[in-house]
Amino acid sequence: MSGKRHSVFRCQECGHEEPKWMGRCASCGEWNTLAEEIAERGAKTSGRRVATTIDSPEPITDVVVGDVDRITTGMGEFDRVLGGGFVPGATFLLGGEPGIGKSTLLLQALSSFARSSGNALLVTAEESKSQIRKRGERTGSIAKRLDVYCETDASRIASQIEKSRPLLAVVDSIQTIHLSELSGAPGTVGQVRESAAMLGQVARESGTAVVLVGHVTKEGTLAGPRTLEHLVDVVMTFEGDRRHGLRALRAEKNRYGPAGEVGLFEMGSAGLTEVTDASARLIRGRRPDLAGSVISPVIEGYRPLLVELQALVAKRPDSAPNPRRVSLGIDPARVALLAAVLLQRAGVNVVSSDLYVSAAGGVRIDDPGADLALALAMASANTGVALREGTAVWGELGLGGECRAAPHGPRRMAEAARLGFNHFIVPEGCESLLEVPEGSSVAAVGSLTDALVMAGLVTGG
Ligand code: TYD
Ligand code: MG
Repeated sequence: MSGKRHSVFRCQECGHEEPKWMGRCASCGEWNTLAEEIAERGAKTSGRRVATTIDSPEPITDVVVGDVDRITTGMGEFDRVLGGGFVPGATFLLGGEPGIGKSTLLLQALSSFARSSGNALLVTAEESKSQIRKRGERTGSIAKRLDVYCETDASRIASQIEKSRPLLAVVDSIQTIHLSELSGAPGTVGQVRESAAMLGQVARESGTAVVLVGHVTKEGTLAGPRTLEHLVDVVMTFEGDRRHGLRALRAEKNRYGPAGEVGLFEMGSAGLTEVTDASARLIRGRRPDLAGSVISPVIEGYRPLLVELQALVAKRPDSAPNPRRVSLGIDPARVALLAAVLLQRAGVNVVSSDLYVSAAGGVRIDDPGADLALALAMASANTGVALREGTAVWGELGLGGECRAAPHGPRRMAEAARLGFNHFIVPEGCESLLEVPEGSSVAAVGSLTDALVMAGLVTGG
C-alpha cells in the first residue's frame, strides 16, 4: 500500500477534516455530513495534473464566442433536449429510477451515433457484455464502432477513455464504480463524487463527451448527489410512469443550451422510439363525455403539449378520518392548494372527499398554466358534469381565485386547435393576443367562479 494516496473525511457543511468517518462533525456538530475524499485535493485523480491556464480580464465586447461542434446522436428528441447534441469534453448526468430505461436509451443513442459519426464507448459496471449485446439485438443497436467494456474501477475507466479517445462515452452507472483509494463502498457520496470528478477531468482532457448514469433514490434525488450536479455540465432526467410506455427526457440543467427542454419516447418491445406528435399521443384513447377530464395545452420545456388532466372525487362518510389524496404527475401541494381555492373562493367542496388526480399518459406537469384546467377537472368530477366536447383550458390561479394569464397563449391555442379543439376557456386579458381559428369560440375568464360558470359546472348569479 506504500505510495498510495490516502483519503480523508470532510464535513459537507463546514469543511472540517477528519482522518476517520464519524457520525457527527466535531467542528460544527452536524450529523451525517462527513464524506470521503482523496486527501490532496487539486492534485487528485490518478496523478493527473489540473491544468492551470493563466487568464487576464478583457472587455466583454472583445470576447470571442467559439462555436461548439455538437456530437449529434441522430435521435432527434435526444439531440433537441441537449440543445443540439452532446458537447466534446463536457460531462453529462442522466438520472432516473432503476428500470425506467436509461441503459436502453443510451445504448440506442450510442449505436446511432457510432453508425453515423464516430467511435463510441459503453462502459458498464452493472451488466455483462452478452446482456448488452442481447439488448442491442433486440433494439437494433448493433454498430461496428461501438465498444463495450465491463469495468468498475474509475481509474481504469479513465485510462481507457484517455487511451482510446472515443468521441462519446457512457459510464453506467456512477453508483456502481469506485476508486480504490477510497475505503467507502461504491455509491457512497465520496465514491460517487470523486469518481465523477475523475471522469469529468478525463472528459476535458481527452475531448470525449462523457455521460454518467445515476440512479435516483426514492426521495427523487440523485444518490450521492446535489454535489454531483455541480460537477457536471448537463443534468438530464429520464422519467415516466413504469406502467405506461411513455418516457420523458428533461434537461434540468444545461450549461450549453436551454434547460427545461423535454423529449418524449415510447418504450416498446424493441426499445425506445421517439414520439414525434406528443400531444396526439397524450390524448389518445380519451373519452370526452367523461366528467372529471379536462384538456389543457401546457408548456413543457419550450413546446406546447396537450394533456388530459383527470380527477376523481369519492365522497366519504362524515365520520371517516383523513381523506385520501393521490396525485400522479402533478405536485400534491399544488392539488391541495387548488382544492382549498375551490372551496374558499367558489364554494366547491372536494376537500372532505377522497381525491385522485392524474395527468394521463404518465407525464409530469410543472406548468402553473395547468391550474385552471386542474381546478375545473376537480369541480367536474365533483358535480359529475362533463365539459363541452372540444374544450381546452389554460390559465394560472391565484389564492384569491383570480385567473391570471399564463405565458405563450397563442402557442397553446394553436396546439389545441391543431388537434381539433374549438372552444377555449382562457385568462381574461390574453384574448387580444390570440388568433382564434374560424368556427372556434373563446371564453375569457377573470376568476375561477367565472370559469366554473363558463364550463357549465355551476349556474351563474
Ligand atoms: P433499462 O434500460 O435497463 O432501465 P435502467 O437502465 O433505467 O435501469 O430498462 C429496463 C426496462 O425496460 C425493463 O423493465 C424492460 C424494459 N424494456 C422494454 O420494455 N423493451 C425493450 O426493448 C428493452 C430493452 C427494455
Ligand atoms: Mg441500467
